[in-house]
Amino acid sequence: MRVLVCGGAGYIGSNMTALLAGQGHEPIVFDNFSTGHRSAARQSEFIEGDLADYELLVRTLKEYKIEAVMHFAALIEVGESVQEPLKYYHNNVCNTQNLLAAMQAVGVERFVFSSSAAVYGMPETVPIPEHAPKQPINPYGQTKWAVERMCHYQSRTGRLRYVSLRYFNAAGAGNGSRLGEDHRPESHLIPRIIQAAMGKRSEIKIYGTDYPTADGTCVRDYIHVDDLCRAHLLALNRLQQSRELVYNLGNGKGYSVREVVETVKRISKKDFKVTEAQRRAGDAPTLTADATKVKNELGWEPQLPELDKIVATAWRWHTEYPDGYPD
Ligand code: UFG
Repeated sequence: MRVLVCGGAGYIGSNMTALLAGQGHEPIVFDNFSTGHRSAARQSEFIEGDLADYELLVRTLKEYKIEAVMHFAALIEVGESVQEPLKYYHNNVCNTQNLLAAMQAVGVERFVFSSSAAVYGMPETVPIPEHAPKQPINPYGQTKWAVERMCHYQSRTGRLRYVSLRYFNAAGAGNGSRLGEDHRPESHLIPRIIQAAMGKRSEIKIYGTDYPTADGTCVRDYIHVDDLCRAHLLALNRLQQSRELVYNLGNGKGYSVREVVETVKRISKKDFKVTEAQRRAGDAPTLTADATKVKNELGWEPQLPELDKIVATAWRWHTEYPDGYPD
């Protein structure tokens, strides 16, 4: 299948592109390289472009005879979304509307959307099932939920078949540890701890130690990026017979911030300074996925559910690329 991978130079998009190519599909990366890395996309055909450019989108969909679109090109910083909500609504909502409009104009129906556990806000129960209330507590989560609703209504017109995948905490390096996580600045827990282990950061701060969890620190559901991408392929195939699908993607098992710190120490065999700090605004105590639906309906099974293995792939990538991607 010829698949346009929007945001294919980013962390998850680049892994997806590699998996698609490995499975005999034809991925075409569409990226403006605002946060993605050219070297992560260099093995594929790519178009440098912005999702705000409707004409370019229409031309690309036509010229490459695109059959499905996967959309990873979003801004993902919760804190920044609170400071700059318009930037988030513009990029995550308006540009996605533009993409869907271009797909409609050309008659491309299949769409795989990267949603987030952030749509649930502060969940009442964990693990969280898909039908739990959608109460995002920040602009980032709101933009993801807005796009889900847009897709829902568009699918009802008969012009869109879509799957919305609600990621929990994507982690690790995929494709044989060749494609890793390189956000600048880095805000995510595992790469930040690894930077501390490598001496590139003086310490790691634990944001909050008084949460109602076993050790007082936040609990998250880390899912290996390869497992995440495999679920996308299964979902894409299922769109041949379905018009609207929604799945959580997580392992269903949570690890606390302290457990993640200890795991990185064990895997890296490095010690580093760990300090306790104030809570970060907007963090839910525990976010774990009920992933029963994707397992039952698509037959998805994670192959790397253990945190040790997830961290080991990330550690390998970071030691290979101590300064991140070259461009
Ligand atoms: N944390 C620390 N110290 C750090 C960095 C993070 O203690 O230096 C803590 C956070 O407070 C949080 C946990 O580690 O409790 C995980 O934080 P991340 O930033 O790695 O991940 P989040 O769970 O906040 O975010 C993830 C995705 C977001 C998404 C969010 C909600 O990265 O894109 O889940 O589903 F919005």
